[in-house]
Amino acid sequence: MTVFVTGGTGAIGGHAVPALVAVGHDVTALARTPGKAAVLREQGAKPVIVSLFDREALAEAFAGHDAVVNLASSLPSMSRFLSAKAWEATKRVRSEGSAAVADAAAEAGVTRMIQESVCMIYPDRGDEWIGEDVPVEHYPAALGNLAAEANANRFTEAGGTGVILRFGWFYGPGAAHSEQLLGQARRGIGAALGRLDGYVSSIHMTDAASAVVAALQAPAGVYNVVDDEPLTKRDYSAALAAATGKRQWVRGPGRAALLLGDRLTSLTRSIRVGNTAFRDATGWAPRYPSAREGWVATAEALGVRQG
Ligand SMILES: NC(=O)c1ccc[n+]([C@@H]2O[C@H](COP(=O)([O-])OP(=O)(O)OC[C@H]3O[C@@H](n4cnc5c(N)ncnc54)[C@H](OP(=O)(O)O)[C@@H]3O)[C@@H](O)[C@H]2O)c1
Repeated sequence: MTVFVTGGTGAIGGHAVPALVAVGHDVTALARTPGKAAVLREQGAKPVIVSLFDREALAEAFAGHDAVVNLASSLPSMSRFLSAKAWEATKRVRSEGSAAVADAAAEAGVTRMIQESVCMIYPDRGDEWIGEDVPVEHYPAALGNLAAEANANRFTEAGGTGVILRFGWFYGPGAAHSEQLLGQARRGIGAALGRLDGYVSSIHMTDAASAVVAALQAPAGVYNVVDDEPLTKRDYSAALAAATGKRQWVRGPGRAALLLGDRLTSLTRSIRVGNTAFRDATGWAPRYPSAREGWVATAEALGVRQG
């Protein structure tokens, strides 16, 4: 297929673009700078420098493609998660950007749109499993994701195939926060935010990338893209420590993080998300069934010592 990727130079995109190229798709991707264009070229994609907010230019760039994959976002670094201002850029990219992508794709005659979203918009359900039918929550940091989902649904209502991928907390080489978490784990500092018996639903970026490839065959709809076994925060923290071969002697803020308000909601709640719908629709399966195996692979890939 001919596939246009926006956000292809980011954390997930850095894995998704090579994965699409590897299975034989003809990939074009948005670049914002000549440096990023060069990276895309090295990965086997054709770069196009165009604004995410310019519908006419985007429609011109999308013409002749079978699918558009929108992975553009602009999340603040974890140290800036508490600043409301820091979320403005990602809200704009996810709401105005995805609207422009959906409109331009429809105008260009593209028949399939794949839109990145996140599982962190589900409510805290303790240890209950969460499927796509659980209503999502409308808290401030989630508004950009909800707008992006609405744009993909609008694309489907207009006759296209809109596929929404709700990724779990992603990790792996190329995600800045993963390198920070591994660095902390090497110093014996645990990573738990929220209750230790709460669940975190994660996805290694290799598996997020293979899910993007699989989504090119999925029927329109919303799909959770997470590994098979969400871990409790206690076990997740232990898996991270074990991957570095270090004993963990300090925990993160734990329950105290609950006092920090809704901008940390995505990290403090307990969400135990299931991937059955996406597996059934596409035959996709994660290479790393849980963060235990995924963090070991990440530590190895980043050259962090393993015990
Ligand atoms: N999702 C999670 O699970 C999670 C959790 C905690 C922390 N984080 C951290 O958050 C960081 C940022 O993650 P992210 O998901 O925002 O991915 P990212 O790695 O920053 O990638 C975002 C993509 O969107 C593109 N983009 C941003 N603004 C754009 C604009 N105005 N126009 C066109 N394209 C634009 C970027 O292009 P450029 O390459 O040109 O910038 C890039 O290709 C990561 O390093 C990650 O470690 C993520």
